Amino acid sequence: MKLGVNIDHIATLREARMIADPNPLDALSIVKRAGGEQITIHLREDRRHIQDIDALNIIYHSSLPINLECSMAPEMINIACELRPHRVTLVPENREEVTTEGGLNIIDNDDMIRLTIDRLHFKEIEVSLFIDPTLENVERAKELEVEWIEFHTGKYANAYAMLYSHLPNTHHNIPELELPRKELADIIEHELVNLRTLSCDAKELGIKVAAGHGLNYQNVIDIADIDTIEELNIGQSIIARSIYTGLEQAIIDMRKLIQK
Ligand code: PXP
Repeated sequence: MKLGVNIDHIATLREARMIADPNPLDALSIVKRAGGEQITIHLREDRRHIQDIDALNIIYHSSLPINLECSMAPEMINIACELRPHRVTLVPENREEVTTEGGLNIIDNDDMIRLTIDRLHFKEIEVSLFIDPTLENVERAKELEVEWIEFHTGKYANAYAMLYSHLPNTHHNIPELELPRKELADIIEHELVNLRTLSCDAKELGIKVAAGHGLNYQNVIDIADIDTIEELNIGQSIIARSIYTGLEQAIIDMRKLIQK
């Protein structure tokens, strides 16, 4: 299982002061040294963390593959086609959200999504769809002929955080918050079985499977047991730990947990 390290939050810290420091570019060599296999960045329409110049520099200088997350807005796809990262992960975006809430609607967005995928493929960029784990979505991804899907693990992570509430909860407005412990445990179990089953289905259909969102040093262990998931993209928990341990150690610690 590969580890993609999402370095957006380095830019979040910089943007809080609107100065030049810390620069996410400095993370590239550290991620590589620590055993990360991919750099993930999200160029948001509101540019709240990664800026266009970051994306350009990171794609230009990285010796690791870059997974650029962005919305399907034509402006973002123009940038992606220009910068030509290794992979583009299409994500839904909503101005008010703190972080990406829920997967992309690939069922109702037919013309737009086809056009977007075709544009990226024309530039020889691999495409991944960030989707909620449902069979309908997996089958639709197959029809759309994408190389990758990334399952949104937010529901699993939220339930996990609520059940073991001493653990950090990176999410807000969580419906799982009000549920009794037994129901939370059931959600966790159900999500794990679902992710396992759907990853197998996707693999049989020839689609590579990544997963991410809300994964941390506790809840990642059961996800890492699902051997049909090829890659995890993790940001918040790694960058949070790095404040105390340094980035290299934080990545080494995560790598150990997902090692097969
Ligand atoms: N994967 C995708 C598609 C995301 O949008 C995000 C958040 O930007 C992540 C993974 C990483 O999530 P987290 O920061 O909660 O680890």
